[in-house]
Amino acid sequence: MTVKPSFPAAVATDAVFLHDVRSGLGAGRKMLSPKYFYDAAGSELFEAITALPEYYPTRTEIGILDERGGEIAALLPEGAALVEFGSGSTAKLRRLLRHLPGLAAYVPVDVSGEFLAEQAATLRQDFPDLTVAPVVADFTQAFILPEAVAMAPRAGFFPGSTVGNFEPAEARTLLERFGEILGPQALLILGVDLVKDSDRLEAAYDDAAGVTAAFNMNLLRRMNRELGADFNLDAFAHRAVFNRDASRIEMHLVARTAQTVRIGGDGFAFEPGETIHTENSYKYTLESFRDLAARAGWRSQKVWTDKEALFSVHVLRRDR
Ligand code: AVJ
Repeated sequence: MTVKPSFPAAVATDAVFLHDVRSGLGAGRKMLSPKYFYDAAGSELFEAITALPEYYPTRTEIGILDERGGEIAALLPEGAALVEFGSGSTAKLRRLLRHLPGLAAYVPVDVSGEFLAEQAATLRQDFPDLTVAPVVADFTQAFILPEAVAMAPRAGFFPGSTVGNFEPAEARTLLERFGEILGPQALLILGVDLVKDSDRLEAAYDDAAGVTAAFNMNLLRRMNRELGADFNLDAFAHRAVFNRDASRIEMHLVARTAQTVRIGGDGFAFEPGETIHTENSYKYTLESFRDLAARAGWRSQKVWTDKEALFSVHVLRRDR
C-alpha cells in the first residue's frame, strides 16, 4: 500500500484541478496547493522522500514514538477512542497501538475510502481485538464521529507535521475544529517539525538524489497529463529555501527562461526566474507551537523531542 501524508483533499476532480491551476497561475504571484502533489506518482515519490538520509522528520518522529509510545499511551484514559486525522502509513499508529490494549476504537478519517478500506483490513489482521471504524471525510470540515465511539473519551492523532502545511491562522482554525470534533476533555497527539539551522532544513527539501526535486516537478507532469498543459520540464528547476522570517520552508518551481505555457486554451507567461510557489512547510519552536495551540483552546500536557531536538511530539488537552 502506498504511503501518503495525511493531507485532506488529495482527491479532486479534473474540473476542480483545472480551476485551481487557472487561478493559481493567473495570480500575480503564481502558486499551487501542495495537495496536488499526491497523485499515484507523487505519493510514491513522497514515500521515497521519507526514506532519504536528508529527510529526518519521518524517522525522527517514529524514533520518538518508539521511545515514548508507552508514556504517550499512558496519558489516554481507559476505553478511549483514537481518531486519526488523515490516514497515512500505519507505521506511526502502530507505535501507539502496541501500548493501548484497552482502546475502544480506532477511527481513521480520510477523503479516500479506498485507502481507508485497505488500511482497516491490515490493521484488523494485526490487531484482531481492535474496533476499526473508518470515516470518509475531509477532516478540515466538520464531520460526525461514528456511533461506536459515542460514549468513549476521545484522543486525536495528527502525526507527520502535516500541521506545518497550513498557514498559522488556518492551523489555529484546524486545531479549533479538532477540539469541536473530539469534544470536551479530549487529548490531541501531534507531530510538529522544529526550527533549526537553514542548511539542515534546506537539505531535507533539496536532497542530493533529487527525489524532492522530482516530487516538485511531478506537479508539472501532472498538469501536462491531466490538463493537457505543455510545460517543458527542462525549462523549470526545483528550489527549496528556508524563509526564517516566516519560519517556513518554501518550495518553488523556477522558470529558467522566459516562456508561455498553454493550459486549456489559456496562456500563462513566465519571466526568467519567476516561480510557482508550490508548498509551505512551517517550522515551530516548542514555545511557538504551544502558543498556537493555546490560541486554539488546547493546553500543553507534555512534549517530547529527539536528542538533537529536530522534531517534537506534543500531547495537548482541551481547555474548554
Ligand atoms: C507531508 C507536509 C509533512 O512538509 O515535510 C516533504 C511534505 N514536501 N518534502 C513536509 C514534503 C517536501 C511534508 N509534509
